[in-house]
Amino acid sequence: MIKVGVIGAGKWGRNHVRVYSGIQNCELAGIADINPATESLASEFNTKFYSDYKEMLGDVDAVSIVVPTDLHYEIVKECIEAGKHVLVEKPLTKTSERSAELRKLAEEKGVYLTVGYLFRFNAAVQELKKRLAEIGDIQYITARYMHSNKPPRKDMGVVFNFGVHLIDMLSFVLEKEPQKLFCKSKRFLSQDREDAAIATLDYGNFMAELEMSWLHPLKKRDLWVIGSKKKIYVDLLEQIMTIYPIQVDYAGNKIEPEQTIEIHKNEPLKDELTAFVTSVESKDFSANTTYNTTKLCELCLKSAEQGIEVSNE
Ligand SMILES: NC(=O)c1ccc[n+]([C@@H]2O[C@H](COP(=O)([O-])OP(=O)(O)OC[C@H]3O[C@@H](n4cnc5c(N)ncnc54)[C@H](O)[C@@H]3O)[C@@H](O)[C@H]2O)c1
Repeated sequence: MIKVGVIGAGKWGRNHVRVYSGIQNCELAGIADINPATESLASEFNTKFYSDYKEMLGDVDAVSIVVPTDLHYEIVKECIEAGKHVLVEKPLTKTSERSAELRKLAEEKGVYLTVGYLFRFNAAVQELKKRLAEIGDIQYITARYMHSNKPPRKDMGVVFNFGVHLIDMLSFVLEKEPQKLFCKSKRFLSQDREDAAIATLDYGNFMAELEMSWLHPLKKRDLWVIGSKKKIYVDLLEQIMTIYPIQVDYAGNKIEPEQTIEIHKNEPLKDELTAFVTSVESKDFSANTTYNTTKLCELCLKSAEQGIEVSNE
């Protein structure tokens, strides 16, 4: 039985608390938060409350870190040094240098360090990965991650907040990274961080265009993959997939009826946290496939700042 503690019980950390409380091979051993108002959550889930996360570390094997992004580096480092397995919310840190440093430290200490890239656990994304071979050559991809129904975050801009999910999802599905990136971003709400960005990722023989926005009225997380034999639409929120077997040719298009794919819908966070606990329990850390997601976000921001296409070397 793995003893897990949750550090940070705010809007998203509450979901970690709820989900861990329902996972069989783990015990929710505590919640740590500097906000005393979160103590009631510990009572609700019948677990201990700590106002200082360092006091919790002696009582747990593993932690979920769900604090504002600017605190990730310091708290992840402290937990790894204390020999705890760590699942930290995305992004690991806002610089690839610090992310690499933490990964090296985890390796040295023999602990599992993984990041909450939720979309790898989305059933529709996993189905897309399985079906990619049947669509022929990928020609291009468009993907959107946007909504404006809540005030934006202040600990990062929209690239690290929303774009990080799309970028990580594409690396997971395609098992490759873009060779070059070009990004345009705008700051309308404050001068401190971008609130809308459009990026073009060049994979050599195909491209992907990403729209990331805190300003759009619709809440959309979806993508189109246009292939030479088939085109696939995936609604990531609803976990709906439609396949269009259409081949475009000057001699005449070949069009077959579209197909709605039955997806066995899941709660991605439940699968993500279960996988974390299982890896810790079995001491099998091989599932921790890392992609250079932080670096790719950094490159988007660099491209936007300098107004140039940047290379992913
Ligand atoms: N994977 C996803 O889809 C997803 C969704 C939302 C948020 N997130 C990530 O989760 C993290 C938290 O986001 P949120 O929206 O829950 O933020 P939030 O501000 O609602 O909650 C953060 C919590 O951390 C607590 N905290 C701050 N400093 C602390 C410290 N030193 N020790 C213990 N607790 C401390 C705060 O009191 C607060 O309760 C961010 O990194 C964000 O990017 C991920």
